[in-house]
Amino acid sequence: MTDELNIQWYPGHMTKTRRMMEGELKLVDAVCELLDARIPVSSRNPDIDALCGTKPRMVILNRIDMADPARTKAWAEHFKARGFSVIQTDCKSRKGIADFSPALNRLLAEKRRRYAEKGMSGKPLKAMVVGIPNVGKSTFINQVAGRKGAKAENRPGVTRGKQWVTVDQGLLLLDTPGILWPKFEDPEVGLRLAWTGAVKDDILDTETLAARLTAQLWQDYPQALQERYKLDEALLPADFRERTLAAQGFALMEQAAKNRGFLLPGAELDMERMAKVLLEEYRSCKLGRFTLETP
Ligand code: G4P
Repeated sequence: MTDELNIQWYPGHMTKTRRMMEGELKLVDAVCELLDARIPVSSRNPDIDALCGTKPRMVILNRIDMADPARTKAWAEHFKARGFSVIQTDCKSRKGIADFSPALNRLLAEKRRRYAEKGMSGKPLKAMVVGIPNVGKSTFINQVAGRKGAKAENRPGVTRGKQWVTVDQGLLLLDTPGILWPKFEDPEVGLRLAWTGAVKDDILDTETLAARLTAQLWQDYPQALQERYKLDEALLPADFRERTLAAQGFALMEQAAKNRGFLLPGAELDMERMAKVLLEEYRSCKLGRFTLETP
């Protein structure tokens, strides 16, 4: 967990961040946007297109080790069709990191040609990584730079001026990532960010948070829930489909708690324990690799 998770995005903070980002964007030729492959919509900054203007863009679908491979493929095609260069990465195992430099070179080929025509073929081209907190920006930059350990932005010296990491010959990456705000005014986005651990759990009580996740998983990946928690559709309440999503999730969690024997004194079901277990098992991918948004 990092301090960034606790950032409170009040309007003044957003304006300051936006202004900083606009300044840094002037320094670079391309913008590389890191998204959480499990929630490519909710982990996207709502203003990024306006901020970047016509600059060449890359989408990095990160955490592919935790996402549904079929949906990751669909998302990659979606962004490619919209003119983005796309790579898919797992920063834990370094999978996909080697694709970054060739993809960035291709993305900037046109610019390099124009520089060459003007007799400036030696001028290095620059890129920066942007994304919402906890999406993996520092880990990605460290991987590209071949570094281990300390977070990129915490290294001493960064404040003395912009530091650049060499990606390839004539290709530089800004050592500090641009931190963007999520679309937090949308409650659905808030839920997804809390499920994946990008923001703190306290946007809702744990049981409601877990119940909403259970309902969503029941829609998208029912088999995984059935298998792990031995759920039986026939045992669900008769009015299950008419219930709110939270109530549907709660009914499913009650069955799961019974099956796991999560009981309080007096034989009441321990729903708080069930909620915590469910969130933990989702986040650690014990339930499976899920993507909760489709293009
Ligand atoms: P940020 O700069 O965007 O805020 O994110 P940061 O790099 O700090 O990464 C946040 C967490 O996400 C880190 O875990 C990091 O290891 C993890 N992470 C980044 N990319 C991937 C990925 O592709 N797959 C997986 N599974 N995890 C990824 P942490 O819990 O803060 O630390 P640790 O688990 O590395 O010790």
